[in-house]
Amino acid sequence: MTNLNGKVAIVTGGSRGIGAAISMELARQGVKVVLNFVSREELAEKMVADINEIGGEAYAVRADVSNSEEAAHLVQEAIDHYGRLDILVNNAGITRDSTFKKLSSEDWRKVIDVNLNSVYNTTSAALPYLLESDAGRIINISSIIGQAGGFGQTNYAAAKAGLIGYTKSLALELAKSNVTVNAICPGFIGTEMVQAIPEKVLAGIVEKVPQKRLGKPEEVARGVAFLCKDGSYITGQQLNINGGLYM
Ligand code: NAI
Repeated sequence: MTNLNGKVAIVTGGSRGIGAAISMELARQGVKVVLNFVSREELAEKMVADINEIGGEAYAVRADVSNSEEAAHLVQEAIDHYGRLDILVNNAGITRDSTFKKLSSEDWRKVIDVNLNSVYNTTSAALPYLLESDAGRIINISSIIGQAGGFGQTNYAAAKAGLIGYTKSLALELAKSNVTVNAICPGFIGTEMVQAIPEKVLAGIVEKVPQKRLGKPEEVARGVAFLCKDGSYITGQQLNINGGLYM
C-alpha cells in the first residue's frame, strides 16, 4: 500500500462536483491538493477552506486546461508551491449535447478541447515531475458514454472514448517507470452536469441503472483514492463506477 501522506496531487476542475469530492478524499488521505478551477473562484476558495478545516492542505489555481500555456502554468504553480508532483487527476470536463445533425463545429471542437486535448496539455507538462515520484499516478476521468455511446453525445463520446485509448497507450509506454495510468468511467453521478439532463430523461436513465439510483461524487472519489493507494500493479485499466449500468 502506498502511503499518500505528503504526496502532491493536481485535480483539474477540482472545485465542484466529482472533482471537489476527489480533492476532499485525497486531502483526507494526507495529500496536498492543487485544486484547479476555471470559473466561480468562490467555489474554489470554499473548497480550500473546507480542506483546511479537516486539517488538510490545498492551493487553488485558475487555469483553462484546454489552453496549453495555462495547463503548463498550473503544473508550474504546483511545483513552485509544493516542490513535487505525484498524482495528476484529469477531471475537467464539459458537455454540449446535440444530435449530430444539429451539432455545430464549435460545439464539436469545444468538447474535444476541454475533455481530451486538455489531457495532453496537463500530462505533457506534468510527466517529467511524475516520473520523479516513487508512486506516480495519472487518473483520467472518462465516462460510461465513452464505452457505450450516448444519444446526442457524439462529441462527448468521442472525447471520452479517446481518453480510454490514450490511457492504455500511455500506460504501456510508462509501464517500466513508477507511473501508472488508469481511467475511471463513472455512470450517472448526481452533479451539475447531470442536473442539465431533462428530469423525465433522467428518471428514465435511473430506471435502467441496476442499483436504481444516481451515483454520488464521493463514490467516484473513493475509486481515485483506491488507485492512488492500492493501485501499484494496476495500469491501463478502466474502473467502472456505474451501479451496474454497463458491465
Ligand atoms: P461539473 O460540471 O460539476 O464539473 C466539471 C468541472 O470541470 C467544473 O469544476 C468546471 O469548472 C471544470 N472545467 C470545465 N472546463 C474547464 C476547463 N477548460 N479548465 C479547467 N476546468 C474546467 O461535472 P462533474 O459531473 O463533476 O464532472 C467531472 C468529470 O466527470 C467530467 O470530466 C465529466 O465528463 C465526468 N463524468 C461525469 C459524469 C456525471 O454523471 N456527472 C459521468 C461520467 C463522467
